[in-house]
Amino acid sequence: MQTTTNGASASIWHATTEVPSCTPLNGSAVADVCVIGAGIAGLTTAYLLSSHGRKVTLIDAAGIGAGETGRTTAHLSPPDEWYAGIEEAFDAARAALVADAYASAIDMVQSIIAKEDIACEFERLDGYLYALPGNGFQDLDKELDAARRAGVNAERLARVPGIPFDTGPCIRYANQAQFHPLKYLSGLARGLVKNGGVIYGGTRADSIDGNPDGQTVFTGRGEIRAESVVVATNTPFNNRVVMHTKQAAYRTYVIGVAVPKGSLPHILLWDTGDPYYYVRLEAAGAPEGHEVLVVGGADHKVGQDAHPEHRYGELERWVRERFPMAGAVLYQWSGEVMEPSDGLAFLGRNPMDEDNVYIITGDSGNGMMHCTIGGMLITDLILGKENRWAGLYDPSRKMLHGVSDFVSEQANTLAQYGDWAKGGEVESVQQIPPGQGAILNQGMQKIAVYRDPQNGLHALSAACTHLACVVHFNSAETSWDCPCHGSRFDTNGAVLHGPAVSPLAAAEIKS
Ligand code: FES
Repeated sequence: MQTTTNGASASIWHATTEVPSCTPLNGSAVADVCVIGAGIAGLTTAYLLSSHGRKVTLIDAAGIGAGETGRTTAHLSPPDEWYAGIEEAFDAARAALVADAYASAIDMVQSIIAKEDIACEFERLDGYLYALPGNGFQDLDKELDAARRAGVNAERLARVPGIPFDTGPCIRYANQAQFHPLKYLSGLARGLVKNGGVIYGGTRADSIDGNPDGQTVFTGRGEIRAESVVVATNTPFNNRVVMHTKQAAYRTYVIGVAVPKGSLPHILLWDTGDPYYYVRLEAAGAPEGHEVLVVGGADHKVGQDAHPEHRYGELERWVRERFPMAGAVLYQWSGEVMEPSDGLAFLGRNPMDEDNVYIITGDSGNGMMHCTIGGMLITDLILGKENRWAGLYDPSRKMLHGVSDFVSEQANTLAQYGDWAKGGEVESVQQIPPGQGAILNQGMQKIAVYRDPQNGLHALSAACTHLACVVHFNSAETSWDCPCHGSRFDTNGAVLHGPAVSPLAAAEIKS
């Protein structure tokens, strides 16, 4: 069983796949390209570059699929922002470019699967967006018109066919897709190695330094010298401030419930809510004669709900009200989503860096799509080829759109620094039950204290090592989560998710 992951919960993908294990770097290495991050973004980029003869070294702090790709629901579906939202924020030409990128990404995934003979349950299917009461119906009309202008095969139906509740009007997007993300990553990794690439697990990149002629990636296990570096770590650790003002980190929640096989059509389904619910079926990991109905939603900003377990209950209530055949809850997990203020991912050269350092971030809830587009786009940039999406997704673009989102996310982040002026969450460690954590004030210091199930206390500085916000305990994942830019740490202080690079400092509880 694959166990390397960045939280306490395990996804259906973790439970049903064993990904290839990778030994750590030991000494120094030289490559044409060093890719950091063994999720779908890093592995797609590394695989495509190696297919073009580039010598690629890929490193990951943990292992293949240990980050957010192992926690997705793997919808290969239209943009979260809708085509209407992109057209409104940008223009119809750029909405058409997004449609082109999305269709090309699904085609690319399908062609890699065929070429590498990857058994990952890839399936083409229809996606349905249905309207919630209120202004949802009008929104659907706008979306249908915009999707069609963008060249998307879409139609309006009176309701989603084949499911037990009346959704009301919906849009059907033809020819979307789903797959098993960790089986896909395993196939990409095998293809990369076959092409001469090397993958090191357990190797965290601490920093990158260099010039236009070459870069060096520094790790605790040695250095890697390369002509180019691609940072594909969900959120870029090498960009300390700029990118983290352009996007916001959210947690999203997923449950998997057993349903009788054949009782529901294989479709992708989501609604017009904000946050919205999203649904698909999965065959792996189901009891005999069943499939797993995978339902996600109930998002919130990272570090801004200390006891998010109720969100699993919210998902269960939602699914039982609509799908009477829903049986036992078999899986529950959460993951992290980076929401760019203007809705488009950031794929390309890292702003304020040399031209040979690239980033893939801002998945916007469409991680499978944006990471595949990012891999294709950055491969072209490194190979010196034109890429028609490069301007659209340029990380250096000015945030002329989504300004109100930008302002409210910045205000939210600034407000988090007010935590330093607040009292502790508990007055003494005696108030912390086993398996829980809380912030304790100790003079001018804030201590993050976790009491393990055996009653042992683990004390850390509560100052996030990125930009010093106060971390908060996440009891659903047994982690310390930062409410400012989404860094996460385990109960020993080790980094689970960037942009932080360094662990939380050890602290002492004074009696
Ligand atoms: Fe930026 Fe914690 S993630 S301050």
